[in-house]
Amino acid sequence: MIEKVLIADDEPLMLRFMSDVLKRKGKEVVLAKDGLEAIQFIEQEAFDLVITDMKMPRKTGLDVLKAASPNMLVVLATAHGTIESAVEAMKLGAFHYLIKPFSPDALEGILEKAEEHLRLIKENKFYRDDAKHPRLVAESPAMKRILADLNKIAKAHASVFITGESGTGKEVIAAAIHEMSSRSQYPFIRVNCAAIPETLLESEFFGHEKGSFTGAHVRKTGRFELADRGTLLLDEVTEIPLILQPKLLRAIQEQEFERVGGTRPIKVNLRFLATSNRNMQEAIESKIFREDLYYRLNVVPIQIPPLRERREDILPLAKHFLEKFCKENHKPMKTITEAAVKKLLDYPWPGNVRELANIIERTVVLDFDPVIDAAHLYLDSTVTAQSKELPKGITLHEMEKRLILETLDANHQNRTKTAEILGISVRTLRNKLHEYGECIEI
Ligand SMILES: Nc1ncnc2c1ncn2[C@@H]1O[C@H](COP(=O)(O)OP(=O)(O)OP(=O)(O)O)[C@@H](O)[C@H]1O
Ligand SMILES: [Mg+2]
Repeated sequence: MIEKVLIADDEPLMLRFMSDVLKRKGKEVVLAKDGLEAIQFIEQEAFDLVITDMKMPRKTGLDVLKAASPNMLVVLATAHGTIESAVEAMKLGAFHYLIKPFSPDALEGILEKAEEHLRLIKENKFYRDDAKHPRLVAESPAMKRILADLNKIAKAHASVFITGESGTGKEVIAAAIHEMSSRSQYPFIRVNCAAIPETLLESEFFGHEKGSFTGAHVRKTGRFELADRGTLLLDEVTEIPLILQPKLLRAIQEQEFERVGGTRPIKVNLRFLATSNRNMQEAIESKIFREDLYYRLNVVPIQIPPLRERREDILPLAKHFLEKFCKENHKPMKTITEAAVKKLLDYPWPGNVRELANIIERTVVLDFDPVIDAAHLYLDSTVTAQSKELPKGITLHEMEKRLILETLDANHQNRTKTAEILGISVRTLRNKLHEYGECIEI
């Protein structure tokens, strides 16, 4: 829905005319008398739609277009003789243009197009997200309780802190909260705090101005800004360097921040979700994570139990993944024998739901048998790195890589545990994996 519209024009009569039409349609309207004023409004507030004149004193319509955030639809109004600049504007990402003079009908037509556009985005987003974040399987009493609360939690504005072992489904729950909230038509942006190099994290959060540091060739929009009006997920939040935590706390509290190298404060409207697979009490006591930041984020806590403590979910999840991967791999649906079921139920699932998903996927991809038997499930493949002989004639770098990858395998891809065993930080581990070309999504 288009709710708030910014109109910029240096002719007071044009402003009046457009504002009357839009107000009659029930829109909230903000007026700017030139380009510079429009840009100042854009930096302070969020608009669904911006209608700007092309030629104005101080800054032009194209400047306004460039200043608008990616979530704002921008319409350029231009005199008949300057249609080329309207075409130029479309290339730069304008939503539409209006040729002056135009009728109230023409303006209403644009408004309808914009509403339709937002509706389609929402629909597409729903389908995309549905593919990315599968239906939430929750059959155990513990997960059903979480699901029952989720509706209430989603409707609130309070920050949510989701904890649970690696692979329990923290991101799935976070995505569900956003989808069920009134913010669902706005962006859901995730920052993987552990995967981004320490030096880049601040600019990743808040963006930077051109030339603010070596390598900052263009202005960059930070994730706080990209998520405006939507939800920002601080994934693995405990991995944020201590030095950056006070700044983050301030930005969360004030909903305001400055770009790196910038001077003007930027206002946003965000809801925060955070996840961690650490024991938070320990993280605070060992001064890895600031207590004030924790209390600010942990208004509503959600603790996802490990899979071994909610065995009722194992089979429904297995079936869910079986359907998913058979479909993805264009194979007919498989069935599972009693023995295989028993094996799944008896296994302790140290890697939780992710491990279950991986095992089912492997079985679907590797085995042509339409029936899955116990022997097809490679569950006890816990290879220990220590038992192997040291290889000769390889570089230290290669040795390190092998050790890291094998420790990861032995620990069911649990990065926190792997880092702990190897005596390095999760961040170092991430950076190493990145270096090896392991696919890590940010
Ligand atoms: N309840 C569930 N229903 C369906 N799929 C699930 C569920 N829980 C987890 N999954 C799937 O399991 C995998 C792991 O989930 P997710 O990435 O949310 O875990 P996580 O807790 O964020 O793990 P990590 O701590 O390692 O980041 C994903 O593929 C996710 O889609
Ligand atoms: Mg996660």
